[in-house]
Amino acid sequence: MFGVIRAIFLAAGLVRGASLQSVTGWGSNPSNIQMSIYVPDRLASKPPVVVALHGCGGNGQQMYSSSRFQTFADQYGFILIYPSSNSNQGMACWDNHSPQSLTHNGGGDTQGIVQQVQYTLNKYNGDADRVYVVGFSSGAMMTNNLAATYPDVFEAGAPFAGVPAACWAGAGGSNPLNTNTSCPNAGVTKSAQDWGNYARNAYSGYNGRRTRMQIWHGASDNLVLPQLFQEELKQWSNVLGVSLTSTNSNNPESGYTQYLYGDGKQLVGYIAAGLGHGAVPYHESMVLSFFGVLTTPATSTITTTRTSTITTTMTPTTTPRTTPAMTTTTPGNGGGSQSKWGQCGGIGWTGFTACSPPAACSTLNPYYAQCL
Ligand SMILES: *[C@@H]1O[C@H](CO)[C@@H](O)[C@H](O)[C@H]1NC(C)=O
Repeated sequence: MFGVIRAIFLAAGLVRGASLQSVTGWGSNPSNIQMSIYVPDRLASKPPVVVALHGCGGNGQQMYSSSRFQTFADQYGFILIYPSSNSNQGMACWDNHSPQSLTHNGGGDTQGIVQQVQYTLNKYNGDADRVYVVGFSSGAMMTNNLAATYPDVFEAGAPFAGVPAACWAGAGGSNPLNTNTSCPNAGVTKSAQDWGNYARNAYSGYNGRRTRMQIWHGASDNLVLPQLFQEELKQWSNVLGVSLTSTNSNNPESGYTQYLYGDGKQLVGYIAAGLGHGAVPYHESMVLSFFGVLTTPATSTITTTRTSTITTTMTPTTTPRTTPAMTTTTPGNGGGSQSKWGQCGGIGWTGFTACSPPAACSTLNPYYAQCL
């Protein structure tokens, strides 16, 4: 009986009930950002919340379609928020530089993202002790800045190709099109204590829990230099009070080196040989295991029974960004072109696929091509 029903829904393409939804009215929104949300059909009774942040030139939809966090949300019942930055300075990057964004309740992007979290916790009776953030590039930089400005909100974070919190302070912008890019491009070096002070100063007077961090980077990243991986580790080792225990090659897979701090529960880093910007797969199951959201089974069903018949079909993989072939072309984009550093292709991408000369579109992986 259920088999028949399932077959019908499969045939009709209705297996997945949940989808990415845009949300308005979630807060005062001081920096004019946007919110999309993915609420799985089966929610945990007190669902954890995971924020996933796009890189420059992307948006929430692009982050959603270029990662597989939602397949785990379907299985484990947590909620995903996909914010979209505004296009200040001509390109959709996160504000990783202004005093507003680098200060707790300072009125910048960090505060707007936290308002989206609070809205979600209230609306879905979420678990305020289990809120997390993962991001790529500009979104990874924002992940570090959220850990500095709101350690009370975010229990753990995972930046992919980021820079330390407040690395862009004083740069006048954090957009590679028209900004002093010495932070990502010069391999800036500071002491662990100095980096730690930057993070602590983002929320002065705070003495509570600090955000645990799992840090990822490509060793051949020539946009956000691999030195920034070391600087991030210095910052959080200082803030979290953990020291390097060991470095372990070919962990979690060939070509990666693990930097283990303490027992690895507070801070761990992974750097991947030969991989450039945007090429390190999200390793969703490792990120979500570090967050601790893969231990809570979905316990309440908030929609119809049809969804409960398909929950065993998930096949998590740790390397989704390397598997599919590049299939996206976007003929209907009006013949415009993307600026240097912007995204110009990849699965799920619906924006411009041409680059403004002299930049040329370079495919970094199936999900991300960039004007370089
Ligand atoms: C460039 O930005 C860095 C921060 O990333 C800052 O320390 C430096 O002073 C800036 N340089 C200039 C010339 O503004």
